[in-house]
Amino acid sequence: MDITLKSPNEIEKMRIAGAATARVLEMIEPYVVPGVTTEELDNIMNDYIVNVEKAKSADLGYQGYPKATCISINEVVCHGIPGPHKLKEGDIVNIDVTVLKDRFHGDSSRMYIVGNHTSPRNEQLCKCAQESMYEAIKTVRPGSNLADIGDAIQKVADKAGFSIVRDYCGHGIGIGFHEEPSVLHYRNNENLILQEGMCFTIEPMINAGTYKCRTNRKDGWTVTTADKQPSAQYEHTLLVIPNGVEVLTLRKDEDFPRIITH
Ligand code: MF3
Ligand code: CO
Ligand code: CO
Repeated sequence: MDITLKSPNEIEKMRIAGAATARVLEMIEPYVVPGVTTEELDNIMNDYIVNVEKAKSADLGYQGYPKATCISINEVVCHGIPGPHKLKEGDIVNIDVTVLKDRFHGDSSRMYIVGNHTSPRNEQLCKCAQESMYEAIKTVRPGSNLADIGDAIQKVADKAGFSIVRDYCGHGIGIGFHEEPSVLHYRNNENLILQEGMCFTIEPMINAGTYKCRTNRKDGWTVTTADKQPSAQYEHTLLVIPNGVEVLTLRKDEDFPRIITH
């Protein structure tokens, strides 16, 4: 295994990339309304990343991916490709943004509820995905085990009666978009002790029904739940610091600490 430990200078660049990523998700919030197309949202975010943040989308061209962001609606689990589809009242939407700034990556996603209401079940699903990510973040510190993350997420999902996607993981991040290690979101026996200077994402995808997924054969990207029931995801980029964790992509709208120390 080759896990990079970031130097103080690299950590500063990860902070800058993470903060830019967080601002994209803050900036786009008022535009996520009924009637807007996902392509319009993608264009607004790309323009902002390029012109305001003086950065680049890491998604654009990644393994041939055609757009700047991923926008995944309702039963779409991840990698939804922005297009002419219009959002409607009650949709639950994940926007996943990865910014590349000064050679380093920040990667984060959150759910948005379109309009004023969605179903109680959709609300619970979004809350569960966010809470499971927060509980997992709380386990992160030097000396803790990577497997504690999956354990924490599993507890929250089990309690709510939802399932956890197994086909996609969190990942180390830095100069590489997807570095080692893979971060499993379900209970597992990986045995990796965390060290100061590691950076990785936690990005649980929680499904209302089955955990099983399908990839669209025509576009090669869009992942949906096998049973067409809804899915929700949150993602943060994290840094292991002395005695704890720093959330590099924390937003202003969150009620969660940037730094946790023990
Ligand atoms: N942002 C996604 C992740 O969390 C990856 C998207 S890759 C893309 O790892 F090509 F679909 F954009
Ligand atoms: Co990621
Ligand atoms: Co992402």
